Amino acid sequence: MGATRLGSMTTALITGASSGLGAEFARQLAAQGHGLVLVARDEDRLQRLAAELRSRTGVEVEVLPADLTDQAQLSAVVDRVADPARPVGILVNNAGIGLLHDFDRNPLEDEVRHLRLHVEATMSLCHAALAAMTERREGRIVNVASVAAYLPRGSYSAAKAWTLSFSRWANLHYRRDGVLVTALCPGFVHTEFHERMGMSKRFIPPFLWLRASRVVREGLLDNLRGKAVSIPSRRYKAVALVSHVLPRRLLVGPRRRPLN
Ligand SMILES: NC(=O)c1ccc[n+]([C@@H]2O[C@H](COP(=O)([O-])OP(=O)(O)OC[C@H]3O[C@@H](n4cnc5c(N)ncnc54)[C@H](OP(=O)(O)O)[C@@H]3O)[C@@H](O)[C@H]2O)c1
Repeated sequence: MGATRLGSMTTALITGASSGLGAEFARQLAAQGHGLVLVARDEDRLQRLAAELRSRTGVEVEVLPADLTDQAQLSAVVDRVADPARPVGILVNNAGIGLLHDFDRNPLEDEVRHLRLHVEATMSLCHAALAAMTERREGRIVNVASVAAYLPRGSYSAAKAWTLSFSRWANLHYRRDGVLVTALCPGFVHTEFHERMGMSKRFIPPFLWLRASRVVREGLLDNLRGKAVSIPSRRYKAVALVSHVLPRRLLVGPRRRPLN
């Protein structure tokens, strides 16, 4: 399997590219010379990032605004991934949200949108990408999960556990076809994630925070190395390890604390 070939220039489609980890994936992949397709709901932010990256790196950048919880808009992104005339060589399933309250207190519609974004959108885009990539016998997929996939933390952990489990299997299964699949499992990262969900960051100790640049750099490298799972930092590798031995009742998180 040609790691060099997989590292060569192609087009990367990134979901959730308007901020945080997604924007950082866009910056690092553009700096490596890859063309980009940027997906998120906020078209203005995507256009601004696209203009910045075109002028800084000279790569081609397409903007594809979409709400991935909407069936028709998700289908348009799936069609873009499947388009044989404009092959997508790298797929980054990154778009994600958190919900403020414990499961029973979130409106069911919010829980359904959360599940669609994390699981249905990731699954649909992987389905389209794997069909095209196995045909071409090359491709790379990074699915952004979370270290929460290892912990019992409500529907967020459950959704990320799907991403982790699916990616582990896909890594083994599709490497024979020249496709590298990796679940990226960060701990706390400085992005807009917590503010957007209205969660206070005050109670999270400073040493637990990671920078988006490091998380993305390690995730992309581990993907190129063919790793099924990438957990940036020793801190969070230890968390994942400990989660296998500690009783689940000791791993359950505290009640959610709103911003104040
Ligand atoms: N930050 C952390 O501590 C942390 C830790 C572990 C894992 N993660 C995971 O990392 C990923 C990226 O999150 P982040 O931390 O970078 O947060 P962020 O800064 O809030 O970025 C989230 C991105 O997802 C997009 N998005 C949200 N809903 C969407 C929808 N319905 N359709 C399309 N795009 C949508 C947002 O763009 P628009 O609003 O423009 O649509 C934004 O670009 C998520 O999957 C998250 O679960 C984050």
